[in-house]
Amino acid sequence: MNLLVDNIGELVTNVDGAGEGGPLGIRRKAALLIEEGEVVWIGPARYAPAADRRIDAGGRAVLPGFVDSHAHLVFAGDRAAEFAARMAGQPYTGGGIRTTVAATRAADDERLRGTVGRLRAEALRQGTTTIEIKSGYGLTVADEARSLRIAAEFTTETTFLGAHVVPPEYADRPDDYVGLLCGPMLRAALPYAKWIDVFCERGAFDADHARAILTVGQAAGLGVRVHANQLGPGPGVRLAVELGAASADHCTHLSDADVEALAGSETVATLLPGAEFSTRSPYPDARRLLDAGVTVALATDCNPGSSYTSSMPFCIALAVRELGMTPAEAVWAATAGGARALRHERAGVLRPGVPADLSILDAPSHLHLAYRPGVPLISQVLHNGVPQCQP
Ligand code: NIG
Ligand code: FE
Repeated sequence: MNLLVDNIGELVTNVDGAGEGGPLGIRRKAALLIEEGEVVWIGPARYAPAADRRIDAGGRAVLPGFVDSHAHLVFAGDRAAEFAARMAGQPYTGGGIRTTVAATRAADDERLRGTVGRLRAEALRQGTTTIEIKSGYGLTVADEARSLRIAAEFTTETTFLGAHVVPPEYADRPDDYVGLLCGPMLRAALPYAKWIDVFCERGAFDADHARAILTVGQAAGLGVRVHANQLGPGPGVRLAVELGAASADHCTHLSDADVEALAGSETVATLLPGAEFSTRSPYPDARRLLDAGVTVALATDCNPGSSYTSSMPFCIALAVRELGMTPAEAVWAATAGGARALRHERAGVLRPGVPADLSILDAPSHLHLAYRPGVPLISQVLHNGVPQCQP
């Protein structure tokens, strides 16, 4: 059984040079053939081969599925009251993480699995076909391992974030917590984790602890990513570059040296504007990064504290309006950029040989994702070639 997506007005391929729009590789009046879950042919609609089934895109835009490279979906409870307090003038601190840690520890597996499943489905409806999921609200050996085990039921892009904050029972002996993290907790996480991450920030983990944790994780075979420079300037970005991290995430407070370090590296700067929106904080400056030659990704940071959104279209709209990105840059960052941040070569792109992960927009062009903010434009999603929802 094959499937033809026909009559595509604008096809964003992200194959640089394959059409108009530079890196977006836009093809007009195109069709795309899918077999066994993969793209097998892309070409002009007038040369489209016969197929067992056909979806008529009706002249609308088709783009690669979004790659959300930063999400904290394994948690219990919410922090709506904390959000309301912030909107009434309270500042955001990472301290609320401990509230979610307590709720997560108290929840049974079914409840955690239900939350991850609900948010994964919510993201998929909004066009996210690849998602990274972190632990980080368990912070015991057993709770981190089960968070990752549950995350691994939903994605292969799983990240061990035992170094989210020092849990309350270790508050006066952080070195002991780092010892636990680098030993028994890492060993328990390894069967389920692909990545390791540290919240490197004042009030969470300093550069020495972060380096120790990331180095031991890297030696055990995990890829490195870092929560860096979110709440203030700090060593996170340079540490990420030093360790060859796939991504430095947040990048809100950057010095010129940070930008230079990123520009001369393979480390992607992943911007999470949902966090600044939901904490009423100054946004990162994507323009500065792009102009310096840094690869930029966009992701949701979906979590109950600082950014309770699973919507990549919302992040694209924020990036264009508040971070200084063009619509084309934002769409690339939310698809191919996210794939780079996960070092994933078969996501965020549409060409023969990759999984058929794509969205059909209820719009003629990718520009509408930022031009029509808040409008549900994702009319149909195909994941591994399988239609997920009907228009
Ligand atoms: O990426 N910064 C650290 N972690 C999350 C916030 C988690 C929370 O507030 O619960 C973030 O924004
Ligand atoms: Fe985060």
